Amino acid sequence: MSSQNINSESQAPPRTPLSDEQRRFLDSALRVNQAGELAATLIYTAQTPPVVKAHPHLRSLMKHMYDQEAGHFKTFNELLAKHRVRPTAMYPVWQAAASVLGWTTGMMGREAAMACTEAVETEIGNHYNGQVRELFRWMQELKDKGEELDPELKVLIDDIKRIRDEELEHLDHALENDAKEAKPYEPITDIIRYGCRSAIWISERV
Ligand SMILES: [Fe+2]
Ligand SMILES: [Fe+2]
Repeated sequence: MSSQNINSESQAPPRTPLSDEQRRFLDSALRVNQAGELAATLIYTAQTPPVVKAHPHLRSLMKHMYDQEAGHFKTFNELLAKHRVRPTAMYPVWQAAASVLGWTTGMMGREAAMACTEAVETEIGNHYNGQVRELFRWMQELKDKGEELDPELKVLIDDIKRIRDEELEHLDHALENDAKEAKPYEPITDIIRYGCRSAIWISERV
């Protein structure tokens, strides 16, 4: 039986406590990631009915991407609870925005839905890469001082890398399924990418 013991309390003292600045970075990173993954599940939930109705062969792909997003969301929910991070105050706003975005692009058709995934995953891939780089930098700094990173943070780096790879896999699926054929491609992807960057910026702060 696999144990997912969220209440388990480690008695081991932290090896190197995080600085206040690092703690703030981690809080805002986890908060943004959780909000983003919630949005991703809602986008696919709204897109799937119209896309699958018009293109039944996409059912398994849409489900596969949704299932992975639901897994990402679960991971960050658990991390928020574990590190006692509050969710973003914008949570209800992002919920509504993601559903509207998913519904709109789904109704526009398969190509627009895929262009939405392409745009979102491009921004999210960059976003997760930024976090991985920062956490690696902490690890390197400690290593230079002969210290070690908290093992929990090593697990976090691995989680973020795995999730990033799955997002980039979604990006590939979107390209294979004619995201670039969306009309009008540039306004759609520009608006969505700008929206993602703004949502990230805001959620990091509130
Ligand atoms: Fe995701
Ligand atoms: Fe994704």
